[in-house]
Amino acid sequence: MPGFLLEWSDEYLIGVGELDYEHKDLFIRLNELHEELIQHEDKDEIERCLGEIYTRLSAHFALEENFMRKSKSLNYVRHKQEHDAFLEDFIDIINDLRVSPELSEGGELAEFLQYWILNHIITSDREMVSK
Ligand SMILES: [Fe+2]
Ligand SMILES: [Fe+2]
Repeated sequence: MPGFLLEWSDEYLIGVGELDYEHKDLFIRLNELHEELIQHEDKDEIERCLGEIYTRLSAHFALEENFMRKSKSLNYVRHKQEHDAFLEDFIDIINDLRVSPELSEGGELAEFLQYWILNHIITSDREMVSK
């Protein structure tokens, strides 16, 4: 598939059904954004994709934080800080893009988001269920 950067692999499963489901869903949205960025360059559609990812990601982080509170996760504070910092960066990205749409050219933006999310899943999210 053109523009497909990251393929879901069951290696990324963390073993909590609803969180795994949302991680897979995020991959789908990110690939959609990536395609939009490199193929169509339709500004409204790019903004819609980014808004959709932001909304789903905020809800996903809230679900994980709830899970961590219930399971009394030792790394709750640090993990939540990662979530909060990323959402702030995400808002900056969306705002920068409104001012300079050319920043989205070439798909680097989607690559950055994919990299951060994958990295977070295989480190912090995995650690959350291993303790
Ligand atoms: Fe997650
Ligand atoms: Fe997380």
